[in-house]
Amino acid sequence: MKLARDYPDVVIGCCGGGSNLSGIGFPFLRDKIDGGRNPRIVAVEPASCPTLTKGVYAYDFGDTAKLTPMLKMYTLGHDFVPPGIHAGGLRYHGSSAVLSQLYHEKLLEGQAYGQLAVFASALTFARSEGILPAPESSHAIHAAIVEAKRADEEGKSKAILFNLSGHGYFDLAAYDDFRNGRLQDHEHPSEAIEAALVRLPKVDL
Ligand SMILES: Cc1ncc(COP(=O)(O)O)c(C=O)c1O
Repeated sequence: MKLARDYPDVVIGCCGGGSNLSGIGFPFLRDKIDGGRNPRIVAVEPASCPTLTKGVYAYDFGDTAKLTPMLKMYTLGHDFVPPGIHAGGLRYHGSSAVLSQLYHEKLLEGQAYGQLAVFASALTFARSEGILPAPESSHAIHAAIVEAKRADEEGKSKAILFNLSGHGYFDLAAYDDFRNGRLQDHEHPSEAIEAALVRLPKVDL
């Protein structure tokens, strides 16, 4: 951003466990906490695996086999099995403990989108930039496009920084499915969240 002589109004990353979003977003947190600047930092997840936007902040295992120590994090339940969406890297039931706490303290925002809108934005990006993005990264791209369109409507100029976390050259089947109408959107139902809550480990603090 220094090279571009700019500073982001919004920093966007897709969010599975949280590493790429943390990498791009956390360096800006110091400014936010100091009160010097106030960039929005946005975690984007699939509507079918809405860990931050619909999960609960509780102690849970990091894996289905319950081998990890318990971690306080946003979770959909360690036995949550998301539908077979194409952004495989965003199908994790939890979020990193640090990212979860920052989200809980409202230093980060969360957004969730369905995969049809995400793939449409991925194609827009591929056609304009000549880079085929990973389905995971395309969640960040979609959020960036939504942000840019909103800025246009409001007549505002915004610096939007997003992380292109990977390429999609191993995801050509997913693009083929999208272009041939074989993809569907899935919303995570609230009954599934309530059921997962019942199965969370009991913790005495
Ligand atoms: C291209 C890409 N981006 C993002 C992610 C999400 O992981 P994280 O939230 O840990 O960055 C993955 C996970 O596999 C991925 O493959």
